Amino acid sequence: MTYAAITGWGKCMPPAVLTNADLATFLETDDEWITSRTGMKERRVSHVHGVEMAYVASMHALACAGLNASDIDLIVYGSCSNDETVPNTASGLQYKLGASNAASMDVNTACTSFLYAYSTANAMIRTGVVKRALIVGVELVSRYMDWNNRGVAVLFGDGCAAIVIEATEEKTGLLAETLGCFSDARGILRISGYGATYANQGVVFGDMGWVFDGPQIFKKAVQGMTEASAKTLIKAGVTADQIDLVVPHQANSRIIESVAKYAGLPMSKVHLTVSKYGNMSAATVPVALVEALEEGKIGPRAKLLMPAFGAGLTLCSHYVEWGDRITPKDVSNVSLPPCEKTALEMVNEIRAAKLDSSRSTPGIEASYVVDQRPFGTQ
Ligand code: UT7
Repeated sequence: MTYAAITGWGKCMPPAVLTNADLATFLETDDEWITSRTGMKERRVSHVHGVEMAYVASMHALACAGLNASDIDLIVYGSCSNDETVPNTASGLQYKLGASNAASMDVNTACTSFLYAYSTANAMIRTGVVKRALIVGVELVSRYMDWNNRGVAVLFGDGCAAIVIEATEEKTGLLAETLGCFSDARGILRISGYGATYANQGVVFGDMGWVFDGPQIFKKAVQGMTEASAKTLIKAGVTADQIDLVVPHQANSRIIESVAKYAGLPMSKVHLTVSKYGNMSAATVPVALVEALEEGKIGPRAKLLMPAFGAGLTLCSHYVEWGDRITPKDVSNVSLPPCEKTALEMVNEIRAAKLDSSRSTPGIEASYVVDQRPFGTQ
């Protein structure tokens, strides 16, 4: 039987840090409220496009696997902050990497996009359609955030990570998963005007706004992640006490504590990043996974559980058995260009642009867009 081993991993965190104190300079909020209600202290704000972060994370993942971009035959780009719908964003990453032999597709299920992308690529390897896949979880939420709404602005951050999976006859990788969606609650997390570039100028804010019923999402998240995890463990034939590490979606430390409690798992077995990165939507689980590897928390043959939820409300839980190798084959020296501004300066620029809805998001280069002609020109 064919399985799909994780052979490469890499992350790309933008350097600019936005603290709770920064948020309190323009919102009626404070460190005590944010920390006690969410567990968050800091988050990152990117000075580059999602594809630029994805490129850096992918180059690290490819080096880790000992592969070139041309070895990859499938790219799955998990994100909900795509600037464009047509063409898809995976093709932008394929172009930038020079991964000319790869099929390229986007998967958008909001915060669960990386794990849904992983399921898709894993199934395509296990059924023999492709042999080597690059899976990306990336989010550039800062450009689309309603920074004047304290109910959401304190919760999210930017980031990216990628993994490479390869066909193997060894029983390893993603062995069981549960995917679902509470579509009757799809109206409680909704963003108008999200993810659309006009005139190659970046985001035009217009009527963009967030519908976000935090307490209802909280309840559905705990229910969805708990039920999906229980089903996944049964499918895998594994009990909770056999799990070595939980790498969950990180939207709120209180949600994670509840899910761990219902699943019968101690918090000592949960890898947390929420205090320093906030909720990076699709990037949250892969960044936490890569970080857990870097910190030596994942050993050979480790048994991992990865529950998540997002707008839709989509939900899932993945069971992964790690292989033997926990160190990179090689290391890439590719990195982001330096960031000249503070996170707060970038956020204040976005807020100023939103006040004037005729203006677009300032200063972000779409270097992966091949054709940069202004809208309307032939
Ligand atoms: O990945 C999917 C994304 N979604 C989520 O993960 C959201 C899940 N939900 C949550 O994490 C929590 O519901 C929140 C962190 C969003 C909110 O926490 P909560 O304990 O459910 O608070 P709440 O919404 O019930 O609000 C309590 C109070 C309200 O004031 P009043 O009505 O009691 O006077 C809010 O207006 O806290 C107020 N509040 C704030 N105060 C200071 C809301 N946001 C803030 C803020 N700073 N940033």
